[in-house]
Parts: sequence; C-alpha cells; structure tokens
Amino acid sequence: MSAAEMYRPMKNYDLSDQVAVITGGAGLLGREYGDVLSAAGAHVVVADILGTKAADVAAQVNKKSGVEAMSHATDVASPESVKDLINTTIDKFGRIDILVNNAALDPKFDAAHHGEHTSNFENFPFAKWQESLDVNVTGMFLCAQAVAGPMLEAKSGIIVNISSTYGLVGPDQRLYEREGEANQYKPVTYSVAKAAVLGLTRYLATYFRGSGIRVNTLTPGGVVADHDEEFMERYAEKTILNRMANPEEISSALLFLVSPASSYMTGSNLIVDGGWTAW
Ligand SMILES: NC(=O)c1ccc[n+]([C@@H]2O[C@H](COP(=O)([O-])OP(=O)(O)OC[C@H]3O[C@@H](n4cnc5c(N)ncnc54)[C@H](O)[C@@H]3O)[C@@H](O)[C@H]2O)c1
Repeated sequence: MSAAEMYRPMKNYDLSDQVAVITGGAGLLGREYGDVLSAAGAHVVVADILGTKAADVAAQVNKKSGVEAMSHATDVASPESVKDLINTTIDKFGRIDILVNNAALDPKFDAAHHGEHTSNFENFPFAKWQESLDVNVTGMFLCAQAVAGPMLEAKSGIIVNISSTYGLVGPDQRLYEREGEANQYKPVTYSVAKAAVLGLTRYLATYFRGSGIRVNTLTPGGVVADHDEEFMERYAEKTILNRMANPEEISSALLFLVSPASSYMTGSNLIVDGGWTAW
C-alpha cells in the first residue's frame, strides 16, 4: 500500500450510511446543512415546525444527492413531538448518528421583516420571552435528551448545537437603527438563548465522557439573506473580513464538526464569524 493510499484525509468527510437529524431543517441554514450532509452521503431527516416546507426540502435533498431523505413536522418545544421525531427516524433508518440542534426563533432584519422588532427591553413581552426560550433552549435540551438513548446504545453519536456571535458578545443595536424610523432591537431572548447553548454543549460533552458521543457548538456570524445595503455595510464594518457570511461557509464548518475530521473535538465551540468577535 502506497503512502498516498494510507493517508486519505478526505475520507474523513465521507458520511455514507450515517443518519443526520437537522432541526429547523427547512430554514435558511437548515437547508444548507441538508445539502452538505447529503452530499457527503448521509441520510437526512429534515425536522421543522413547517411540515410542508420540510417535505419540500427533503424532496429537494433527495433529488440533488440521490440519498434517501425524510421530513418530519416537529415542534422542538414539545416533548411528544420530539419523541415522535426520534421514533420515526429509528423506524425508518434504524439509527441516528448525528443531531444538528439548529431550530430557533431567530428574528430577522431583512426586507421581509422590516419594522417587526420594535419592542425594547423595558417592554419586552413575557410571553415572547417564554416562547423563545422554549424553542431556542428547551428545544435543544429535548432533542439532545431524545437522541441520548439511541446514541448511548450505539456507543457513538455527534451532537452539534447552533449558537451565534450574540451568544458570545452583546448585539450592537446600532445595526438596526434607521433614521426617521422607530428603533428596532435584536431581542434579549436571542442573546440569552445563544449563550445557554454554550453551557448545554459543555454540560453534555462532559456528561457523555467515555460514551463515544461528542458534542460541540457551531457559532455562525450573520449570513447574507435579503438585507438592505445599509445593514450589509454596517455589518461588514463589524467584521475583520468586511462582509457577511455565505451559507456554504457555515455549512462547511458543520460538515467538519459532524465528521471524523473533528474526532479530537468535544465540548468546544467553532466560531465562523468573519472575525466579528476578535476585535
Ligand atoms: N442566519 C444567520 O445569520 C444566523 C447567524 C447566527 C446563528 N444563526 C442560527 O442558526 C440557526 C438557523 O438560522 P436560520 O437563519 O436558518 O433561521 P431560519 O429562521 O431561516 O430557520 C429556522 C427554522 O427553525 C424552524 N423552527 C422555528 N421554531 C421551531 C420549532 N418550535 N420547532 C421546529 N422548528 C422550528 C423554522 O420554521 C425555520 O425553518 C438558528 O439557530 C440561528 O439562531 C443564524
């Protein structure tokens, strides 16, 4: 066997026959994650509260990659719904290798959501606080808990929890101000939930010591969607690389975290933010 045959680092990225559950799989980044993991050979389960959208995404994944994909209308904040997701996945594929805890209520500031986030901290509605933490924190707890049994039994598994730069540093609310308009705010719930994700990752990684289960956080910076010029410019100034991220720049980091290429990482946080948090 030649040296070149023995050392094949790209083989680490082969996820053939693995089964990956992606919560929030019908969203902006969830769709990208489905594409990259299926391109690497994994069966993908697109779990999203928007069941019809999830079914469309699963069909697209299947069409593009040829790998079998399925969808599930899941509410990650509901223990019953999450249990049903995991049971249905096991019934269909017989295993779960990867959980991407990605679903979140993530208030957007692109053109489609202009003017939606005018609630300041002083008047932030209690119901909204509860709803956001139910989805963004409790949802991750429930999904991790539901895969723990099958992963412990298999003596292997990978969980990736998705945080945000706003889990590491406070939002710069100046990004959302527009002259002559009511102020908009990135809500308190987002920062609190995304910081909690880091704690959940560290807890699970240490709890699962010796079990073959690795748990890491992926921390993306802002991803280009339908933002206005002013937002894009202000955002760019906050980063060292002077721009927002493209979705593939986040999904390629996810591929690293769910593959054997990251086999010496657990309890850690991979920050892909163009340098926002490095100043
Ligand atoms: N887009 C960004 O710039 C960015 C930056 C940093 C972190 N993130 C994080 O990445 C993840 C994905 O973000 P995105 O931009 O794709 O958001 P998105 O809003 O496009 O997608 C989120 C998905 O989660 C689903 N969802 C919401 N509530 C749910 C529930 N109760 N149960 C199941 N699914 C539910 C939504 O239907 C949606 O499809 C989030 O955790 C977000 O906080 C995003």
